[in-house]
Amino acid sequence: MERVMGGGMLPLVLASVGVLVLYRILVRRRPGAALQDAVVVITGASSGLGKECARVFHAAGARLVLCGRDAARLQQVVQELKANSTGTQHQTYTPSTVIFDLADTSTVHRAAEEILKCYGQVDVLINNAGISYRGNILDTHLSVQRDVMETNYFGPIALTQALLPSMVRRRSGHIVVISSVQGKIAIPYRSAYAASKHATQAYFDCLRAEIEHYGIPVTVISPGYIRTNLSLNAVTGDGSKHGVVDKTTAMGSDPRDVAQAVLKAVRHRSKDVVLAGPLPSLAIYLRTLWPALFFKLMASRARKERKLKDE
Ligand SMILES: NC(=O)c1ccc[n+]([C@@H]2O[C@H](COP(=O)([O-])OP(=O)(O)OC[C@H]3O[C@@H](n4cnc5c(N)ncnc54)[C@H](OP(=O)(O)O)[C@@H]3O)[C@@H](O)[C@H]2O)c1
Repeated sequence: MERVMGGGMLPLVLASVGVLVLYRILVRRRPGAALQDAVVVITGASSGLGKECARVFHAAGARLVLCGRDAARLQQVVQELKANSTGTQHQTYTPSTVIFDLADTSTVHRAAEEILKCYGQVDVLINNAGISYRGNILDTHLSVQRDVMETNYFGPIALTQALLPSMVRRRSGHIVVISSVQGKIAIPYRSAYAASKHATQAYFDCLRAEIEHYGIPVTVISPGYIRTNLSLNAVTGDGSKHGVVDKTTAMGSDPRDVAQAVLKAVRHRSKDVVLAGPLPSLAIYLRTLWPALFFKLMASRARKERKLKDE
């Protein structure tokens, strides 16, 4: 074996690593798809990551359709974007807004029609809106599990399915979904959220394979903690609001940086992007390669959280 590695394999391995590194550098340097005039739909654009995505795609010259439940908050975002339009390198447009509740899938079809009426087409759909959950499975009403699933899973897939035929007809478009690291690993006391994001990952992985031949890419983005109102707006086991900015969320990434990473993923038509530090990334690998250790670590995390609650 030593002779094989020394004689022929080592140069081959080094050459392969070299080619891989070179390929990655070249891919990163590619300018990527232009977004000037592209019609970009962003759900959950009234706050947090959605609002920052609105900012970066607006500055890139996209024609935006911003979606949310609160018309006044969306209008405020529109006014902020208009006020910041000067000084950008690209021609910018005043965004349109469409108001609907993703958790009520019966309204999503009408909302999709309204979205299509704005510019006659959708080039990029960014399924960003979502809610989080904090709770103990034993004390959580089934209705809460269902509600989180409606907003984080059924809403985005209903909207995607309603807009997809128009993309298929044009053989053009791009579907993006903001999942989470918790779409790849499940963390204790986050059951409804982790389950909804795992379902999201699975659905959009299937979709990617099914629509590739139409030239429509699917991008799943899985961020770690981001400094937004997500934990503040999270629901608990009885449906009431968590109402707390968790330490992990407060110490999370700047939403402006995450929005830039979303823009880059769209430009490069990336398939699956994890935006997290080394520990969550390692945990994702552990879940597959050494599940027994991963389960031990999660049980220990659950013990620590229980202890903190009891104190
Ligand atoms: N923050 C994090 O640590 C983190 C980490 C990983 C992934 N993410 C994901 O990032 C995405 C954005 O969340 P965020 O962190 O920016 O949280 P956020 O500040 O709470 O924003 C959530 C957005 O979703 C919208 N929304 C919630 N329920 C909705 C519904 N039923 N119908 C329509 N819109 C609804 C909200 O709009 P209105 O309330 O105005 O209607 C709001 O604009 C979510 O998918 C989340 O899971 C967040």
